[in-house]
Amino acid sequence: MSTETTSPTSRPAHITRRSLALERQRDIYLSGISGKTPNLPLDLNKLEALAEKKMDREAFAYIRGGAGLGSTMTQNRQDFQSFRIIPRMLRDVSVRDTSTELFGMALDSPLLLSPIGVLEMAHKYGDLAVAQACRETRTPMIISNQASYPMEEICEVLGTSPRWFQLYWSKSNKLVESLVKRAQNCGCSAIVVTLDTTMLGWRMEDLDLGYLPFLRGKGIAQYVSDPIFQKLMDIPPAPDAVEPPRKINFSSIKTLFQQVSNYPGGFWETLKSQRSMKAVKTFINVYSRPSLTWEDLAFLRDITELPILLKGILHPEDAQMAIDYGMDGLLVSNHGGRQVDGSVSAIEMLPELVDAVAGRIPIVMDSGIRCGADVFKALAVGAQGVCLGRPYVYGLALEGAAGVQAVIHNLLSDFELNMGLAGCRNLEEINRDCLKTS
Ligand code: FNR
Repeated sequence: MSTETTSPTSRPAHITRRSLALERQRDIYLSGISGKTPNLPLDLNKLEALAEKKMDREAFAYIRGGAGLGSTMTQNRQDFQSFRIIPRMLRDVSVRDTSTELFGMALDSPLLLSPIGVLEMAHKYGDLAVAQACRETRTPMIISNQASYPMEEICEVLGTSPRWFQLYWSKSNKLVESLVKRAQNCGCSAIVVTLDTTMLGWRMEDLDLGYLPFLRGKGIAQYVSDPIFQKLMDIPPAPDAVEPPRKINFSSIKTLFQQVSNYPGGFWETLKSQRSMKAVKTFINVYSRPSLTWEDLAFLRDITELPILLKGILHPEDAQMAIDYGMDGLLVSNHGGRQVDGSVSAIEMLPELVDAVAGRIPIVMDSGIRCGADVFKALAVGAQGVCLGRPYVYGLALEGAAGVQAVIHNLLSDFELNMGLAGCRNLEEINRDCLKTS
């Protein structure tokens, strides 16, 4: 029995230490006494259903949709069930510390936000609102190459909060270099190269609606704000370049209106100069490079000293190749099931990838994270961080920055409690012994 004494007015030190989870739980239950319940459902699956009611059809389809019949999305969720937590008892979990370190960044938690493009479809202030939530919660934001606002504006909102930049490798190395340099200049501390999107997956929900946001000038802010892209716009298109059809009807005029409104600068000036149309055409022809190979990574390695993570790695041999080619980290992901239908899930491959890497470079896991237990399981298998994707976009659609903040806080509270109740006081204590695998 402890002999420690405390005066009646001073609490033991561990009780004065803040716990996000207990404070959040207490606030919610106390508000419940006066009949107030949380604005957003705590179950992130219910959040999706609520967002569907609020968002327009095209926006919701674009965010929720996956490749083919969606079997990868189903797998992403199902495979978390193959790992079950074995709680341990009597381990003094009164102080719980979720902090960690990743590439020299001291973080309050292992959570980052996945890069998600075209956030203007969910909320007018898109990435800016997400940046505000990230700043409030000190959650690292991975700024998307397909963001709705230029990275410089997003970083201004982020203040000193941590951020990485996600790159899509376009056909122009000059553009790649320009984007990387801009990211460096606005304080991004790592580059995430997404490799799994050399072409868009067969996304039937979007195809059924004939809707691709980029053709309406949405989600191309990093491009139109880029001096190299502006120069590319002035180069006459190659004879085999893709040309959008010129049929004039109500829909095509509406699309033109959207393109012009989404382009920076005055409406009439943009309409007259046809810059917005040129931007879309140039984007279509430049945005991806399916011919990319491992050898191309040397170019990126040469132009930046920032840590480079490869996003989309799922095969242990690719993990080894990433190390051989001088990469600094992996983001294990199947793009939320939006690319290959019938793919392995990220959590299913995580153990093999962790074993292949053997601690030489950090691994962050993404795709299918929906609750605190998922975060715990990914860490227990050996990831150093996890990324939250679609659910924060639903929070954004429903309540802007406050919605994103609520989603982050709810997930972190769930994780903190689950970690403590499993018998772990900090991330070092979370390991494979905490799991039963079948
Ligand atoms: C994405 N994702 C993505 N990834 C990326 O590297 N760059 C991007 O611009 C986008 N854009 C994007 C848009 C939308 C609407 C979605 C849903 C996803 C993939 C994203 O980073 C992440 O891998 C998945 O969202 C993870 O799956 P869950 O957990 O969201 O299901």
